[in-house]
Amino acid sequence: MELLIVNDYAAMSYKAAQFLASQVILKPECVMGLATGSTPEGLYKELVKMYQMGLIDFEKVTAFNLDEYVGLEAEHPQGYKSYMYNHFFKHVNIDPTNRHIPDGNAAQLDAECEAYDYAIKRAGGIDIQVLGIGRNGHIGFNEPDLKFEAETHVVALDEKTIRDNARFFSAIEQVPRYAISMGVKTIMQARKIILLASGKEKAEAVYGMLYGDITPTCPASVLQLHPNVTVICDFQAATLLKK
Ligand code: F6R
Repeated sequence: MELLIVNDYAAMSYKAAQFLASQVILKPECVMGLATGSTPEGLYKELVKMYQMGLIDFEKVTAFNLDEYVGLEAEHPQGYKSYMYNHFFKHVNIDPTNRHIPDGNAAQLDAECEAYDYAIKRAGGIDIQVLGIGRNGHIGFNEPDLKFEAETHVVALDEKTIRDNARFFSAIEQVPRYAISMGVKTIMQARKIILLASGKEKAEAVYGMLYGDITPTCPASVLQLHPNVTVICDFQAATLLKK
């Protein structure tokens, strides 16, 4: 894994945007795997700026999001469909038919998961996958577990994740308990992965991912086995790496 330690959140976001922009320039019809949460907000801002300056064009890009909550109404402001629309999609020219987010309200969730993996394969696979990391080492919503879950699946969210994500909701009771998430195999099949981490609360997870045992109890540790991962983290998230 390549490790880039940068000064702060702004530098992390800018660096990540450069990776995505170069992917779009090299392959305008590329397939991007995208994440939500606080971490990539700055990345999306940078990409929107680059688009508005005419540096990149998303016309032929296809996007697949990592995950979505189960059971939130479709237009819920904390749903990832709203997140992606507000932070990114409404500002750039990715064709609406090429924006994919798992449907957490599908009548048959298992069939939805299977169809999602199939759609990724049919699009040619993910060229570049953006990841954040949970304090518990999760990637997507692959929570610490006894085994790696391979493909897109329904997951029960970890207590730590529910507490962390409560900041986006008016009360912790409103945080959904389940989500659909790309699996570890789906993520590992991406040709290139960039993982972003910012803030000291991520330091332990970043350390575990880079130097811990490869174990499903720290899902991000599986990335040690991927041939093309770049971790971009700010000084705070890298605190434990400097000792
Ligand atoms: C989001 C996702 C999650 C987040 C992680 C970090 O699509 O898959 O794995 O990347 O929970 O969240 P933030 O960035 O809010 O700290």
